[in-house]
Amino acid sequence: MIALGCDHGGYQLKEEIKKYLTEKEIPYKDFGTCNTERTDYPIYAKAVAESIQKKECDLGILICKTGLGMSIVANKFKGIRCASCFDEATAKQAKEHSNVNVLALPADYLTISKAVPIIRIWLASEFLNGRYADRLQMIEDIEKENMKQ
Ligand code: RB5
Repeated sequence: MIALGCDHGGYQLKEEIKKYLTEKEIPYKDFGTCNTERTDYPIYAKAVAESIQKKECDLGILICKTGLGMSIVANKFKGIRCASCFDEATAKQAKEHSNVNVLALPADYLTISKAVPIIRIWLASEFLNGRYADRLQMIEDIEKENMKQ
């Protein structure tokens, strides 16, 4: 189950992404926003991150104008590894090296035809484990030291 969230800047792209996920029969849950009225991206990044923490959803996709604000918020939540990816290469490496569980997309810099291959490769790529797992363990240790929940 993929949790989706966006602000006004990402709304249009999120709607297109929903069509793609529906076509591919990939289940998703939409945490808003539901129109192009100006709103605040932390609301949606929080909802998506919490749904993953609660295991209601397995992965998340967040969309704002740059993907940056969304990823800053999502990474405040224990167990969330979010990266703003602008192309297929960064999306692949984000999964393989950092097991990114939330993909943040920059709607101002992507069309749906560029976003789909990014999502596809992120979903298809596998975490490489090995030394990369050691680094994720270091991140977990930092979370334990610095985060309440
Ligand atoms: C909203 O204006 C914009 O700041 C937001 O969509 C996002 O790009 C923030 O990082």
